[in-house]
Amino acid sequence: MEQVKFVQMKDGDKEDYDFLTKHEIKHTKGTAIRLLKALVELDQSLSGYKVTRLEHSLQSATRALRDGADIDWIVSALLHDIGDIYAPYNHDEYAASILKPFVREQCVWVVEKHGIFQMLYYGEHVGSNPHKREKYKEHIYFQDCSDFCELWDQKSFDPNYETKSIDFFVPMVEEVFARKPYDPAIIRQTEREPLTTVFTSK
Ligand SMILES: [Fe+2]
Ligand SMILES: [Fe+2]
Repeated sequence: MEQVKFVQMKDGDKEDYDFLTKHEIKHTKGTAIRLLKALVELDQSLSGYKVTRLEHSLQSATRALRDGADIDWIVSALLHDIGDIYAPYNHDEYAASILKPFVREQCVWVVEKHGIFQMLYYGEHVGSNPHKREKYKEHIYFQDCSDFCELWDQKSFDPNYETKSIDFFVPMVEEVFARKPYDPAIIRQTEREPLTTVFTSK
């Protein structure tokens, strides 16, 4: 069997859907590679900064690494702007959707909200409320998102920062996207891991 027999989904039988399930599993195994390819494509987007979007992403992840953050944080930092390619008006939600089955809830929330939190740094210059984030003040991950933006995101536009290459992060991305999707032991609802475990001066 190389293709399903049906032309309308409602006509498919068990054999068709077993065949498709097998195909889908094979396809999902390539997620990490596809994401890394997309990350490289980021390189061409949003010119005007002193660094490319790819360099910004790598720099954010490198800072997370040097702060002693765990793999969920590092991969989330690496992919936090991946939505810029296809969803420029809600790039944060887009990236969060990609990460959601595979990293801690804490990281997903932070990535999803980072666009709003980042407004603190430039909202006043673009006619947006810099303090929009205040509506989440009581949220358990408020401080984490604030730290994510301060320590890793808003800082990572520096062409002189010594940034790790994409190859360095490949095994981490592969590890995260090979996890069992939505595994409660990975999602760890409401649990918080620190962003920084070591002192850095940068
Ligand atoms: Fe962003
Ligand atoms: Fe960013």
